[in-house]
Formats: sequence, structure tokens, C-alpha cells
Amino acid sequence: MRLAIGSDHAGFALKEDLKAFVESLGHEVTDVGAFSGEQPTDYPDWSQKVTDLVTSGKSDRGILICGTGIGMSIAANKVPGIYAALCSNEYAAKLSRLHNGSNVLVLGSRTTGAGLAKAIAEIWLVTDAEGGRHLARRQKVMDKEAGSHVAPQGAKAGGRVVVMSHPLIQHKLSIVRDKNTTVKDFRDLVQEIAGLMVYEISRNLPLEEVEVETPICWTKGFSLAGKKLAVVPVLRAGLGMVEGILRLVPNAKVGHIGLYRDPESLRPVDYYCKLPGDIGERDIFIIDPMLATGGSASAAIAHVKKAGGKRVSLVSLISAPEGVSRVTGDHPEVDVFTASIDDCLNDHGYIVPGLGDAGDRLFGTK
Ligand code: RB5
Repeated sequence: MRLAIGSDHAGFALKEDLKAFVESLGHEVTDVGAFSGEQPTDYPDWSQKVTDLVTSGKSDRGILICGTGIGMSIAANKVPGIYAALCSNEYAAKLSRLHNGSNVLVLGSRTTGAGLAKAIAEIWLVTDAEGGRHLARRQKVMDKEAGSHVAPQGAKAGGRVVVMSHPLIQHKLSIVRDKNTTVKDFRDLVQEIAGLMVYEISRNLPLEEVEVETPICWTKGFSLAGKKLAVVPVLRAGLGMVEGILRLVPNAKVGHIGLYRDPESLRPVDYYCKLPGDIGERDIFIIDPMLATGGSASAAIAHVKKAGGKRVSLVSLISAPEGVSRVTGDHPEVDVFTASIDDCLNDHGYIVPGLGDAGDRLFGTK
């Protein structure tokens, strides 16, 4: 596992001890500092360095140490997508993974001895998060986060299902649901919602400082830190979301996946698949306005993964609970972003209340 570890001056000695220990267990450790216990430093600065690595996906999990663990814990838990657990015994450490899916372990060097700290870290590192009722509870925490901002893609405690409650998204969604909305308005609104969703999803993309010369002088600005995106519409309805996303992220590459349902086996069969050659280096958004049974979405995700895609998210305007379960069951590491999880599927496979057939409404083919 790729681990980020950090401490302030008070946690320095324990950090050194623990770093050697987790390395001896075979983990790859990035030590962000502090690099001395002499000079007083501020715990939020070290917390930030570790949580940045976790939320960007550069580290799988993090360990933070300060005197009591309290300051680090408060600071880390301010970051969307970070679930930091201050643990003083092995039982709590184990349950913080099983039940809470903690992705940062916090320890207090003045309250926990080195031997116990190692035992706590060891059990925390080997314990996986449980699904079922615990996932449902964690989901409530994640939903709370999604109300104001979306946790970064790297910050996973298992795949996330995020319902995007931004008022503009919800307002526009009601108009596209309306059966009297014209084809033109429907088309425009689907693009707009897709753009708004990706705007929210991309809120935490890492930035790097750049120098910019304005007509007046040189100044510092920010640029996306080399994160590459790929948008992969599932044909044909997914096409209706592409432009809205490209307006915001014009450098994203676009792949395409075409699937039809075999009338006999009812399984999705692909008839077209063209993905960017460097798909493995990109954050991939598979897009489809409707997540109904989840069969096509799951097959599309499987395709992208087989082609080398590693960081995959599914973006759907409207989802059925059946589709969400199918995708999260088949691909537990994939994030699902949606503007609504509706009630159910009807006997014809339409989402209820849904918006009808997105493809027909987008292309006026009904
Ligand atoms: C530093 O003295 C101490 O306040 C810090 O390490 C930590 O315990 C804060 O919560």
C-alpha cells in the first residue's frame, strides 16, 4: 500500500519509529515531515500535506501524529473525502476501518506508546471496510459532504455514490423530467447539467503555481497540475452530455463505447469501442444520462478497465437503485455521480419517475 505519513514536532519521534515499522511490513511510505522534533511547527500544515496525497490518489491512505492526535484529527477531517480516526487501541483501529472506512489513522505520541502505536497501525492496515449497513451509514456522511462539495476522486473509502444536490442541477433536472420540454431545451439542459456535475466533481483537482504575465506585470496564478481527463460517452444517449463537459474541460480526450442488448441473452454486447491510447493515465468519466439496470454501465466500466483504465467514475443524471447496486456490486472501487436516485425500474426497464428514454428525447426519434 502507498502510505503518506506526517507529524508535527511532538509526533516526530513516533513518526520515525512507525515509518520504519510500516516499511518493514512492505508498505511504500511517503514521509511529508516534520523532519525534526526540535523546532515547533503547526499540525494543520502537516495534516494538509498528508491529506493532499490521499485526496489526489497519490497515496492510498495516511497516518498523522501529533502530541494528542486531536489537532491532527480535527484538521484532517475538515478535508472532504478524508475520514480520519484518532485511535488509542487496536479494537478502535479495527472498527474504524470495518465500520467507518477510515482512510487516515491518527495517533497521539503523548498518549500512545510506540509498541501500542505499531500494533494499532498493523491492524488498521490489514482491515478492509465492510459493506451493508456500514456502507449505508458511511454513505450518509458522504452525502453530507456532497451537499457542499464533492470529495476528491482519490479520496476513497471504497467507491462513493454521490447524489449531487446543487440547486442549479436539481432545478434543471426537473425541467428535463417534464414530458412537455422540447427536444431543443432537453438537449441544452442535459449538456448544462453534465457540465455542472463535472464542475462539482472536479472541485478538488490539484493545482500548481504558474507565472503569468498580465498587461501590467508578472504574477502568480494556478494551473491544473497535469491531471488528464477522459470522457467516455456510452452511445448513443451519452453523446448528449459530451459538449457540456468539454466546454469546461476542453483538453479532455473523448472515447466512445457502443453497446446493444442481445435480444436472447439480454446481455450487453459491444459494437464499438475506441478509447484514448493513454487511458491508464487519465481520470475517466463514463457518461450516460440514465443508469437503469446498470447492465450497460457495468459492461462499459469493465471495457474501460480492461483497456487499462484505473481511475474510473460513472456520471449519470438519473439512476435507479437497481442500477446503482449493480454497478457498485460489480465495480466497488468506481465512484457513481448522479443528480438523483429515483424510486425503481418499471416492467419495461424505464426508471420511475425518470424522464422517459433519454436517447429518444435527445435526438427526437420518438
Ligand atoms: C503541540 O504541543 C500539540 O499541541 C500538538 O502536537 C497536538 O497535540 C495538537 O493537538
